[in-house]
Amino acid sequence: MSSMVENCPISKHFGAAAKSYDRQPGVQSRVAHRLATRISKGGKAVSNVLEVGCGTGFLTAHLCRFFPDTPIVAVDIAGGMLDRVRTRLPQQKNLQLIRADICELEMTGMFSLIASSSALHWMMPLDNTLRLLSSFLHPGGRLSFAMMVRGTLAELHALREEVAPQKPYVRFLPTTSAVFGLMRCAGFTVEDWTLESSSVRYNSAFGFMKSLKRQGVTGGFVSPDNMLTRGEIRKLAEKYRRRFPTGDGGIRASYKVLYADAVLGKKA
Ligand SMILES: C[S@@+](CC[C@H](N)C(=O)[O-])C[C@H]1O[C@@H](n2cnc3c(N)ncnc32)[C@H](O)[C@@H]1O
Repeated sequence: MSSMVENCPISKHFGAAAKSYDRQPGVQSRVAHRLATRISKGGKAVSNVLEVGCGTGFLTAHLCRFFPDTPIVAVDIAGGMLDRVRTRLPQQKNLQLIRADICELEMTGMFSLIASSSALHWMMPLDNTLRLLSSFLHPGGRLSFAMMVRGTLAELHALREEVAPQKPYVRFLPTTSAVFGLMRCAGFTVEDWTLESSSVRYNSAFGFMKSLKRQGVTGGFVSPDNMLTRGEIRKLAEKYRRRFPTGDGGIRASYKVLYADAVLGKKA
């Protein structure tokens, strides 16, 4: 295991959150289920599968159910996440788990299907990642994914900029059209897609931020020296409560999820 993988902040955050991840309110479990349903209706022959950023295995479990005799390789950078997959899917003979930064793997032309749920937006720059994934596919291979796009956690992002304008984000979620542009450049033809907007209710703004931490998603878009102070967090929580209430004492957080099914190369 390279020390780069061990020490990478994304690996540390998700690894630390692995035990609490599945219990948090959020959209990931539902998104994985919806993506799996799309994949199962694809109707194309699949000789093997690569899952990218498998986390605790929400999508992995569906893939194992749909493809019980097909080799499945699931990759995640966080060891703690893979431990959860082992608990969720013990003795799954066709499943191989690999701890790695996907961007450091070489698997040229090996797969007929690549799947990824709620993970690609962590693998920036996305153009490099998509180009790499295209190189992992057989000619005519398929990429099916769901990822968060611009508009996800929009309330939190807007309030953070108000409360701490001197601490800008180091990166932003891509827009849907940016994702399509990058997919084209990587050689993919998008055959089907859906953009889904939803919101999740939390009891309080503090509870919401705690839950993000327990999902491992804190700090991914800001540099370590740009973290909010306690005072700034208090201010943000107060503004959140006033500006984005649910009407029953809670607060809401928006999610925008892009589902896309693409084939490598031009459509016949
Ligand atoms: C929000 S979680 C989603 C996990 C799971 N697919 C789900 O639907 O719940 C994102 C996952 O991507 C993994 N990840 C992020 N960057 C990665 C990279 N460069 N290589 C491999 N895995 C990565 C994280 O460790 C984390 O488990």
